Amino acid sequence: MAKKDSYVEAEILSNERVGDDVYKLVLSGNFEGQPGQFYMLKNWDLHPLLSRPFSICDITADTITFLYLVVGTGTKLLKDLHKGDKISLLGPLGNGFEFGDYKKVAIVSGGIGIAPMLYLAKKLNCQVDLYAGFRDYDYFIKEMSPYVDNIYLSSDTGMVGHKGNVLEIYNDDKYDQVYACGPNPMLNALKNVSDQEKLQLSLESHMACGIGACLGCTVNTTEGMKRVCVDGPVFTSSEVFFDA
Ligand SMILES: Cc1cc2nc3c(=O)[nH]c(=O)nc-3n(C[C@H](O)[C@H](O)[C@H](O)COP(=O)(O)OP(=O)(O)OC[C@H]3O[C@@H](n4cnc5c(N)ncnc54)[C@H](O)[C@@H]3O)c2cc1C
Ligand code: FES
Repeated sequence: MAKKDSYVEAEILSNERVGDDVYKLVLSGNFEGQPGQFYMLKNWDLHPLLSRPFSICDITADTITFLYLVVGTGTKLLKDLHKGDKISLLGPLGNGFEFGDYKKVAIVSGGIGIAPMLYLAKKLNCQVDLYAGFRDYDYFIKEMSPYVDNIYLSSDTGMVGHKGNVLEIYNDDKYDQVYACGPNPMLNALKNVSDQEKLQLSLESHMACGIGACLGCTVNTTEGMKRVCVDGPVFTSSEVFFDA
């Protein structure tokens, strides 16, 4: 339905709060996309000027779902939308996660980094363990649980799971592929304890156009500067450097 070169309108089926400042937005329509790809979303005219990028959380024959954390102007406007309202979207954009003939896979998420993982877990045909770290309470675990074999939780405050960092309960040796999404310090720490070639990182970056034109989303890689929106957002760990 949505095409890469033009925004389309879709109707909202639901926009429900699933955790502290976390909302699940379901739109009606036959949308395309692979796990790890994203859409630019917009339901405003002039302010803010730019659309905002959100990972595909799930796709069915007649719906697309996004999971978002309310952080600023755009996401505050999104959370006030209701069933029947219209929203514009552009996508699918970016490269998405790579798949292979894996036996045991780990999904590692930090906070809202869990957003792309439902659609990913649904497409994996092997043992899948989820490691999810949160600041305090967890969210979206109930939705993930039918599609993963084991769930390991952590929280900074100790309100759920292990008190501390999710990497303190993670064992890289058990897995032949690892998919991760979360804040850069978490991805950087994971990079330091992982076999680089089996680790796929979905990176965040500020985006203006989402289609490779503005160069606003570049990151430093082993092959020079790359654009997160078209060369990513998924990179092999060995390709990327972090400042943090
Ligand atoms: C490829 C991609 C996929 C994403 N998928 C999701 C998703 O599925 N769910 C989700 O909740 N969020 C996702 N994000 C992040 C989301 O795009 C931002 O949270 C959103 O743009 C914030 O918009 P805003 O207008 O509410 O905040 P703003 O008012 O623009 O900013 C509020 C604060 O958040 C910071 N911020 C905004 N965007 C980013 C960013 N990209 N990286 C780091 N800090 C940022 C700003 O610096 C500011 O401090 C994704 C980002 C990318 C690049
Ligand atoms: S957001 Fe414009 S080049 Fe990536």
